[in-house]
Amino acid sequence: MPKTLSKIKVALVGVGNCASAFVQGLHYYSDSEREKECIGLRNLYFGGLHPRDIQIAAAFDVDSRKVGKDLSEAIFSPPNNTLKLVDVPQTNVTVHKGPVLDGIGEYTKNIVQVSNLPEINVADALKAVGVEVVVNLLPSGAVKASRWYAEQALIAGCAFVNATPVFIASDAAWAKRFEEAKLPLVGDDLIDQVGATTLHKTLLKLLSMHGVRITETYQLDVGGGTESLDTLERTRDVKRIVKTKSVETALPYKADVVAGSTDYVDFLQNRRDSYFWIKGLYFCKVPMQIDLRLSTVDAPNAGSVLFDVIRAVKIALNRKLKGVILPISAYAFKHPPQLMPIETAEKAFADFISGNV
Ligand SMILES: NC(=O)c1ccc[n+]([C@@H]2O[C@H](COP(=O)([O-])OP(=O)(O)OC[C@H]3O[C@@H](n4cnc5c(N)ncnc54)[C@H](O)[C@@H]3O)[C@@H](O)[C@H]2O)c1
Repeated sequence: MPKTLSKIKVALVGVGNCASAFVQGLHYYSDSEREKECIGLRNLYFGGLHPRDIQIAAAFDVDSRKVGKDLSEAIFSPPNNTLKLVDVPQTNVTVHKGPVLDGIGEYTKNIVQVSNLPEINVADALKAVGVEVVVNLLPSGAVKASRWYAEQALIAGCAFVNATPVFIASDAAWAKRFEEAKLPLVGDDLIDQVGATTLHKTLLKLLSMHGVRITETYQLDVGGGTESLDTLERTRDVKRIVKTKSVETALPYKADVVAGSTDYVDFLQNRRDSYFWIKGLYFCKVPMQIDLRLSTVDAPNAGSVLFDVIRAVKIALNRKLKGVILPISAYAFKHPPQLMPIETAEKAFADFISGNV
């Protein structure tokens, strides 16, 4: 068995669907030993670290059905509606109440029920249990709240993982602040394990490599988690810009490209349907088209990538690296400070883990 380093103490900001799948996954894989038997994980051991080396030490939310509860109960409380994958035993981590700020939008204000319990001093709470890595899983429209938690990480001396599309790692001013504080920062907007954007880019690249001239393509999603509703109100436009730009880089010429989220369908629960349409011309301009649907459940799609990111950030901490860690950000996030082609990002990440950079 590879040698393990010390436990990684993590705080979760936002105990929503993504946090639920992540916590369930930690328990699900905790006894796994053999790489080959770990279906669904990209890496069992990673830089000498196993998923069981990730320890949730603190969690923050605002919903009355989660605040004050043990994390094992809070992750299954409404409005969370992702899959129950496994029973989670008592964690002895009580979900604390943080400030609401802009955490709740117009569309989600009837879904999230704000707790009356007093707010905790978040930086003090992080320090009290020795948190090393703060993972931001707030709704994508929570710009102020995400930045507020980044500030708390700075005060408490923690690394920050920004899984949301709020620009923090890709914002030069924030990057400088983490650099000055000698703390690692990675983000923004986590890439899914079975990602629609990655699949779309891969298909387009494959076709264009084979001489197909793509003329038009779109990729649109519908989902039923609270996050899809928040996206509909607050981040659909920005997500569309980020995803469309990213997809356009897969083609060496200009084509009509649209990519982004589209709508909320409540009965889908946490399921997500991603639709792909690709039209092009091949030999002698004969037309071809692809009409495809990818069906996933949203929250488990972040689990394997988060396991890798947190372990990679621990490696950055051990090496005393500071500021934005580009190899982690480019490998695992849709909007890093510098976009890289998939193969370049994979290589930069592998080199980082093996210590070749
Ligand atoms: N596959 C994925 O799930 C995936 C992939 C990439 C990025 N992300 C990002 O992860 C984030 C979380 O996604 P989700 O599906 O878990 O969302 P969610 O809506 O299920 O969870 C958000 C949680 O944040 C809580 N919250 C709201 N305001 C708060 C505040 N001020 N302080 C503390 N908690 C607050 C809510 O009560 C809720 O529990 C989103 O920004 C999403 O874009 C998720």
